[in-house]
Amino acid sequence: MSGAPAEAGGEPRRGFASDNTATIHPAVLERIAAVNAGHAFGYGHDPYSTAVAARVAAELGGTEAFFVFNGSGANVVSLRACCRPWQAVVCSEHAHIHTDESGAPEAVGGLKLLTVTAPDGRLSPDAVADLLAFREADEHAVLPRVLSITQSTELGTVHSRSAFAALTDLAHEHGMLVHVDGARLANAAVTRGVSLAELVEGADIVSFGGTKNGLMGAEAIVVLNPALTEGMLWLRKQSLQLASKMRFLAAQFDALLDDGLWQANAAHANGMAQRLAAAVGDLPGVQITRPVEANAVFAVIARNARERLLGAFDFYPWDERTGEVRWMCSWDTTAADVDAFAAAVADATAVARV
Ligand SMILES: Cc1ncc(COP(=O)(O)O)c(C=O)c1O
Repeated sequence: MSGAPAEAGGEPRRGFASDNTATIHPAVLERIAAVNAGHAFGYGHDPYSTAVAARVAAELGGTEAFFVFNGSGANVVSLRACCRPWQAVVCSEHAHIHTDESGAPEAVGGLKLLTVTAPDGRLSPDAVADLLAFREADEHAVLPRVLSITQSTELGTVHSRSAFAALTDLAHEHGMLVHVDGARLANAAVTRGVSLAELVEGADIVSFGGTKNGLMGAEAIVVLNPALTEGMLWLRKQSLQLASKMRFLAAQFDALLDDGLWQANAAHANGMAQRLAAAVGDLPGVQITRPVEANAVFAVIARNARERLLGAFDFYPWDERTGEVRWMCSWDTTAADVDAFAAAVADATAVARV
């Protein structure tokens, strides 16, 4: 039985639905195969997993790293490490923890989320300050304890160096911690032209994504503030994010950090998004809605154009009210994929307009 999702009897399907529809980078698969020998203690208690975790932590300027299965898990475990039961998480209205984790922060972590408006997905220090100024702390309200910043954001934008610094300073002035949802951290680092450590400077804990950047399925929680390490092993296990065959998660990150693979994959995905935006941005039936700063293109197109396109390419509607759609590029999106899709967008939007 073939495992490739193909049209009946045809080529494997390709599309722009997400960066997790992509394949696994061959170097990652090779590394998994390379560590597939001999016996190793489970749960991260083998020398290889320990060494790779230390390597990941160092790459982000952190003190410890903990591998987990998925990004929602990384977020929930990280935020649980930050908050006591009466404390709350401040995040953007578009934050994945708020819109796309099925209430896991609330259900699994007992966490209250306080959202602020964030045009184009970027948190503004003013909006966060406004929320924090609304009310003096008392026992009737939750206490904001952690600011969660997504970098790059759910809307394909990137917080600038100055905005990120202003946000972390603001949080720390209010005695709060800073969490970074870095499901697409590499894409932001490439856009900003900085190392991963520079990008997260000022944060206390980071969900460092790998799955969307060529891994098979692994994320890492990187602790930068050593006070947050306490209990992390228990929180990870309790949150069902502890892998028993840990070496195979570690192997994926080991490959990702070798020879700048994280950078090359993210740079490629970002470049494909730029290519797509350039190809469709001037079409009369396409209105690009967000700055294209990472690997996503958001646009409004006519609904019948969308339906025509969906017959041949996968992608997600983003906002049914406005007809906004999301086109996501990944490490294995090719220039030919983009060009074929852009031509189809041109056809579909031209037909939709007549
Ligand atoms: C911003 C962001 N954070 C976290 C995640 C984690 O997702 P998952 O739990 O599917 O790995 C995603 C996935 O789409 C995301 O876009």
